[in-house]
Amino acid sequence: MQEAYKAEAEIIKVLRNGGFISGEGISVFLGVSRTAVWKHIKSLRLMGYHIDAAPSKGYCLRPSSTPLFNAVELTSLLSTEFVGRDITWHETADSTNLRAKEAARNNGPEGAAIVADSQTLGKGRMGRRWVSPAGVNLYTSLILRPSIAPSNAHHLTFVSAVALAATADEFLGKGASSLKWPNDMLLDSRKTAGILLEMDSELDRVNFVIVGIGVNVNMKARMFPAELKTTATSLLEKCGKEVDRAAFAARLYLNIEIWYKKYLNEGFVPIIAAWRGFFRSEGKPVKVVCADRVVSGVCLGLDEHGALLVRSASGDTQRVVSGDMSERS
Ligand code: BTN
Repeated sequence: MQEAYKAEAEIIKVLRNGGFISGEGISVFLGVSRTAVWKHIKSLRLMGYHIDAAPSKGYCLRPSSTPLFNAVELTSLLSTEFVGRDITWHETADSTNLRAKEAARNNGPEGAAIVADSQTLGKGRMGRRWVSPAGVNLYTSLILRPSIAPSNAHHLTFVSAVALAATADEFLGKGASSLKWPNDMLLDSRKTAGILLEMDSELDRVNFVIVGIGVNVNMKARMFPAELKTTATSLLEKCGKEVDRAAFAARLYLNIEIWYKKYLNEGFVPIIAAWRGFFRSEGKPVKVVCADRVVSGVCLGLDEHGALLVRSASGDTQRVVSGDMSERS
């Protein structure tokens, strides 16, 4: 017996075709009893779906004025093979990355997704917190199990960043988003999404990688804490209207699957090429704060491994593998 949310997503997909569908028709389609169909309809109504019922006609879905964001809605919009096909949903999680690590240790399959409507301990890079209020944004973590060397796991940051920027452009228009090295998605030079990669590995093999993604989708400017007000933004602030979070997540999962498969089949070269297409800092003065030094100079772009190249005032080229980059004016 598949989980209830998957059957309910199938019902929503069928009802979205429009008109009335009989309970009998749904029960045959799903291979479940009429009573089970009725229970699913009841649970869908509790989630906020407006489903009319008429004797001898069946069920009909009325369009909802506010988009719903839950495992059913997300699944009903999915067109992937494996990414997001197994969803664990939390109204509130401490951190979806923590939940995903736990799921991965318990044999969670490749592509499994953890999604939360809010996080109490949202984690950013370098020990920072990720602001995670309820009802507005996307917080999700995916389990990946690539057969790659642990030293190449950082490639998946670039894979995910390309998928993220491509998804934002699909919603906002080509050229709307850009990427800041190594993994921030920007709109109008302001941070809109970030990626936190965590790995569990042996010396020579990756057990799993957790790709944690936070996207400021419908957060209003006034909701950002003071320290982020001038540096962060959201899709809503950029396009002036609410973005359907379930539709965005479904599209993001598809793009991650496409770019991840490309990476596994063709290697890092096409990923870096696509990533460069979203990078706007080449030729500009930058500062990179690393764990052990600060590198300043003109950004020369990325090398073939994804490291940042910076030409300092003295003319030598510094290669930076990890750090926090910002453009200097
Ligand atoms: C960054 O610092 O830019 C990375 C931010 C990553 C935030 C996401 S939200 C979903 C997942 N769960 C977490 O606790 N962090 C990541």
